[in-house]
Amino acid sequence: MRIVVSKPLIGSAVSRLRESGHDVVVLSENHSQEAFVEAIAAGCEGVLSMLSDPIGADVIARTRAAGKSLRVISNYAVGYNNIDIKACTEAGIVVTNTPDVLTDATADIALTLLLMAMRSIPAGMKLLSEGRFTGWRPICLLGHDPRGKTLGILGMGRIGIAMARRGEALGMKIIYHSRSGAKAELPWAHISFAGLLAESDVLSIHCPLNSETKHLIGAAELEKMKRGSVLINTARGPIVDEAALADALRTGHLFSAGLDVYEREPEVYPALMKMENVVLLPHMGSSTYETREAMGGLAASAILDVLAGRRPSHPVNPEVFELASL
Ligand code: DGY
Repeated sequence: MRIVVSKPLIGSAVSRLRESGHDVVVLSENHSQEAFVEAIAAGCEGVLSMLSDPIGADVIARTRAAGKSLRVISNYAVGYNNIDIKACTEAGIVVTNTPDVLTDATADIALTLLLMAMRSIPAGMKLLSEGRFTGWRPICLLGHDPRGKTLGILGMGRIGIAMARRGEALGMKIIYHSRSGAKAELPWAHISFAGLLAESDVLSIHCPLNSETKHLIGAAELEKMKRGSVLINTARGPIVDEAALADALRTGHLFSAGLDVYEREPEVYPALMKMENVVLLPHMGSSTYETREAMGGLAASAILDVLAGRRPSHPVNPEVFELASL
């Protein structure tokens, strides 16, 4: 069967697909959206997609018009906001993702951003690289200690929990808000969204992006955050209104922010690029050799499972199987 892999991968994912007898097309690193859609619409049974590949109802309709072969879209990410799940389910296409294997790598990046943002690291690096470091001084580049501060987690899934544990190791008090409510097995206090905004010294975002969470953190919510607090986002850019965030940083209402994801990725809101109290990373939450290899392994297994008639380990629309058995 024909499988389209959206970008070159590290590890053995592609060779495993080929060794299983499939015809695998790997698109180039910088392919256009049109090239991606054309490759799928030319007829294929499986797609290994990236979070940067929009797969909307229009793409699904085009593949259906070209024939009914597509059976599985395996997204190389835990987030799947790039895919219209409803359109896939209606078309009988299984969508899978790659949770668990990237939890620690992403929480590590969130922790890195937290420490860099709290300790004014970007300003320190800039001072040094611009040749302005003239010697140690007691009042220079001051930041804040995490110990004793409150870390608020917005979205308490796997990565939120891993981040909470890291915060606890730094001596932070943990509070959280989850749309699904309190989780009995967790030792930390569940709190209202308004309470989370009001009480967090550092607010770290770990919820998925969907119609309910787009701009969940806008001007009004930033205003409700403590003066001098810090915002960390390693989830998805559009959860935060970047223009409002830039204002809150410019006025000093927020002490700093750490971002790995952007509202119009890969573009970054220009004002943020110029600020010294913002840590900006290019969406590298899961970018370790070990994690990316594990993500490839999971993504390839999902395709092999579905094409062999087995249930994959992480379907995001399991209702496809129930519909198929009706
Ligand atoms: C994901 O898997 O959703 C991450 O954003 C990838 O780094």
